[in-house]
Amino acid sequence: MNQPPSRAPGANAPAHVKHARLVAWVDEIARLTEAADVYWCDGSQQEYDRLCARLVEAGTFRRLNPLKRPDSYLALSDPSDVARVEDRTFICSERQEDAGPTNNWVAPAEMRATLQTGPDALFKGCMRGRTLYVIPFSMGPLGSHISHIGVELSDSPYVAVSMRKMTRMGRPVLDLLGSDGFFVPCVHSVGAPLQPGQTDVPWPCNPTKYIVHYPETQEIWSYGSGYGGNALLGKKCFALRIASIMGRDQGWLAEHMLILGVTSPAGKKYHVAAAFPSACGKTNFAMLVPPAGIPGWKVTTIGDDIAWIKPGKDGRLHAINPEAGYFGVAPGTNYRTNPNCMDSLRRDVIFTNVALTDDGDVWWEGMTEQPPAHLIDWQGRDWTPETARGADGKLRPAAHPNSRFTVASTNNPALDADWDNPEGVAIDAFMFGGRRSTTVPLVTEARNWVEGVYMAATMGSETTAAQAGATGIVRRDPFAMLPFMGYNMADHFQHWLNMGARLQAAGTPLPRIYCVNWFRKGADGKFVWPGYGENMRVLLWMLGRVEGKAGGHDNAFGISPRYEDLEWNGLAFSREQFAQVIGMDHADWQQELALHGELFQKLAFHLPPDLTRTRERIAAKLAA
Ligand code: GTP
Ligand code: SPV
Ligand code: MN
Repeated sequence: MNQPPSRAPGANAPAHVKHARLVAWVDEIARLTEAADVYWCDGSQQEYDRLCARLVEAGTFRRLNPLKRPDSYLALSDPSDVARVEDRTFICSERQEDAGPTNNWVAPAEMRATLQTGPDALFKGCMRGRTLYVIPFSMGPLGSHISHIGVELSDSPYVAVSMRKMTRMGRPVLDLLGSDGFFVPCVHSVGAPLQPGQTDVPWPCNPTKYIVHYPETQEIWSYGSGYGGNALLGKKCFALRIASIMGRDQGWLAEHMLILGVTSPAGKKYHVAAAFPSACGKTNFAMLVPPAGIPGWKVTTIGDDIAWIKPGKDGRLHAINPEAGYFGVAPGTNYRTNPNCMDSLRRDVIFTNVALTDDGDVWWEGMTEQPPAHLIDWQGRDWTPETARGADGKLRPAAHPNSRFTVASTNNPALDADWDNPEGVAIDAFMFGGRRSTTVPLVTEARNWVEGVYMAATMGSETTAAQAGATGIVRRDPFAMLPFMGYNMADHFQHWLNMGARLQAAGTPLPRIYCVNWFRKGADGKFVWPGYGENMRVLLWMLGRVEGKAGGHDNAFGISPRYEDLEWNGLAFSREQFAQVIGMDHADWQQELALHGELFQKLAFHLPPDLTRTRERIAAKLAA
């Protein structure tokens, strides 16, 4: 059997590392995986440049034209490894009940046998011929009382460079850990050991995939994929699944939410956190540019994907963005839909699975109205608008629908001054929004916290390319957390109810809660609501409600604006069009409530009775 180069305990660790448990764990994993060597990341620019150069040599990266896209790279993944694999994601709690009915569950002992200890354990020898990168990272500002530290051990240099963009990564984290600091251990392998002399492929991965979380020991083990949330373990695995468990136990919240600041012309600042499912507009909303008709308002970004939310000393809910970068959806992004994002992508970006132009730049569907005459598509094939047609006669996309960019937050021209504030920002309103072509109105305000939790709990959304599998199918996605919940979903509902009750008892005003839907379609199959920057009109109404100024009318679900309650300056949007996005069709809502009922049946075991009662109240109103 191959052995890693050094067998002496701790011999692989740099002298400045004083954390005996960390060093012992790295040794143990190096032994288990039989990694050819061990490299401790310091997080420096020089190290990043060196690893990128190595990725270029290996064919994983292609350096983009430095005149067009300085310091930027394009990676094309294996065509089988393009999105999160929800059916291969497991919460391995001791009791199945703690994973709950929405998660895949395997008993921890059984999973450990599969991954680590059994005769054919997948991690045994899985890093042969590869370097094991030790990647220390902080989720949240270094040293913040809301932050937590993780260490990812990965055999993917693509992961190492991506983690530098997405997190605070490297030597300062090790220094902060000291000799006995707590960290979440994260083990990642692409599952493609190399035999001596075997040449590597540009994107090693394995058809067998496991994304595994052990709640009791707070460990993460990921095997077989190099892509996004499967492999950058600080993101969904830690900052959502493991962190949601920490939050349940410690009295805080880990949510799939963007965080933005919004400043009025008079200089008053509000903070809003919004949960939309994957590829449903968080990055866009977090970087929103108000339209010309709404002068003087300004939106700034704190985060675009994840929020950690904790009651502050003032009794209000404070949120931080645990990440330090954006792993965002490329298709659909352009100077009209998201100019701040386009400006963020001018330099120093890692693109994955977008198309390559003839002058060494990138392109994706929606970037420009007309595609270039020739491209190399995300699978490395020639692509022209004339020839790139599938058997069905339809144009094959040049960029994969889940193609993404990886970029540091500091590239964002609209970055909020408080994005790195260790105390976080105080939240004024929460939003929950799915992708629904019918049924759900543009915006509805919950009349109280329980109604808001109900809205979040029963949210439905059409599936997108962010997860492997069919797209466009409506499924319940409570809190936009269906794929990211580390514990029993029904317990999460109770946790939210408890948090609200606790703050209310302390006499603090609770954030308002809103349900939104930018995605209603007309008979022509097109979106009725213009979306993007125009979503500012909805945000304005919500802030008006927070200030007690904006009007609205009661419906069965909550309070929605009338036509005259929204600011229309600069937008031609008729009463008829508004009716199409705000209306509640009686038959649609009866069906919708039946779907809420189905979800509640599935979650019945731990379901808070408050939510059942809320459903009954809505049903009664609907019947009246
Ligand atoms: P994850 O990173 O997967 O969690 O997704 P996200 O919620 O950050 O998604 P993102 O903002 O990247 O949006 C994904 C898609 O939604 C893009 O194709 C956008 O063009 C589209 N989108 C965003 N906002 C709107 C909107 O207001 N209206 C419409 N119709 N589409 C939108
Ligand atoms: C999502 O799917 O919600 C993402 C992308 O934010 S990934 O990190 O791949 O999960
Ligand atoms: Mn996400």
